[in-house]
Amino acid sequence: MIFLITTNNIQFSLIINYINIVIDLKFKFTKGLINMKTNKIFIILNSLILLVFVSVNPIFAHEGATGVIKERMDKFKMSKTMMKQINVGLRENDFENIEKSAQKLLSWSREMSKYFPEGSDVSPSEASKNIWLDPNGFSMAIKNFEEASLELVNQAQTENSDTSIQAFRNLANTCKGCHQKFRN
Ligand code: HEC
Repeated sequence: MIFLITTNNIQFSLIINYINIVIDLKFKFTKGLINMKTNKIFIILNSLILLVFVSVNPIFAHEGATGVIKERMDKFKMSKTMMKQINVGLRENDFENIEKSAQKLLSWSREMSKYFPEGSDVSPSEASKNIWLDPNGFSMAIKNFEEASLELVNQAQTENSDTSIQAFRNLANTCKGCHQKFRN
């Protein structure tokens, strides 16, 4: 059995490890080196390892920006696009467009915490370790973002240009505030 676990390549190592165990087991069994009982113990062990692999997989399956890291990066890219849309909306007094974009940010703020499972700060992610070192601070940063998005939705509904611009600035500050503390 070979344990090759490195933090960067945990998913790959687990596969190699698993294959190793299976080969090892088959070899020993066919050579008569182990009896049925030992074989059964190995099979149980094997299933347990597979179980661990399957449960770890969704968290670590994002190397090279796949899985949850890719998903949140896409959501943040969308956030940037929404901010641009809102900017255009404010210039053109297109409150419907402002509200729609702010709504998207609001929904994102409400699910954002689910996109940061512990340990998901591996390359190429720019997520800071502070997210998990200071979970309350991070929740607060998300909350500020949520409230600022909601405020912009509300202001866009009143179709007041001045208060909408102010709400937009406040919202942009919550992006920046979080990046300063929680993005590398
Ligand atoms: C509560 C914290 C938080 C808030 C609020 C937040 N961000 Fe981010 N943002 C992050 C973190 C953390 C990352 C790094 C994610 C990663 O690389 O895994 C990030 C990454 C990004 C990226 C880079 C995405 C990529 O492709 O690598 C952009 C663009 C971005 N944010 C824009 C925004 C905008 C615009 C807003 C506001 C409308 C915003 N963010 C609000 C925490 C936040």
